[in-house]
Amino acid sequence: MAKKQPPDRAQLIDAAKAAMKNAYAPYSKFRVGAAVLTSAGQIFTGCNVENASYGMTNCAERTAIFSAIASDGPKLDIRAVAVVNDRGVPCSPCGACRQVIYEFGPEAIIFFPGAKGWKQAHITELLPEGFRLK
Ligand code: THU
Repeated sequence: MAKKQPPDRAQLIDAAKAAMKNAYAPYSKFRVGAAVLTSAGQIFTGCNVENASYGMTNCAERTAIFSAIASDGPKLDIRAVAVVNDRGVPCSPCGACRQVIYEFGPEAIIFFPGAKGWKQAHITELLPEGFRLK
């Protein structure tokens, strides 16, 4: 049986890096970019957008997902997500973003910088027992 092709990691990482340049991160000075690959083969990107009321900050991953839906509607099916930051430090999606990724990509593969280079994980490894209403 043919092995299922992994999504194009390099292309997705490049898209995330481009989006990272648009980050609004005056408080943490930690710029993050994310890129979402859909099952239709499209790529949507996002960056972190901070706020003086820190808790209102939107992570790069959620910005990318919300941008995808704003552009193409609610039938989003996420195949993969790539996350990058401008410090080259380990950075996996936060808990809130894991839950939002799971909503639209229960089979999604996540690429992120680990302690020893790029890591790849299934969303259910990052978020066991994710919550779903459907
Ligand atoms: N951040 C992201 O955008 N994505 C992550 O995966 C980790 C954290 C942002 C939120 C905040 O603007 C800054 O990084 C520091 O936490």
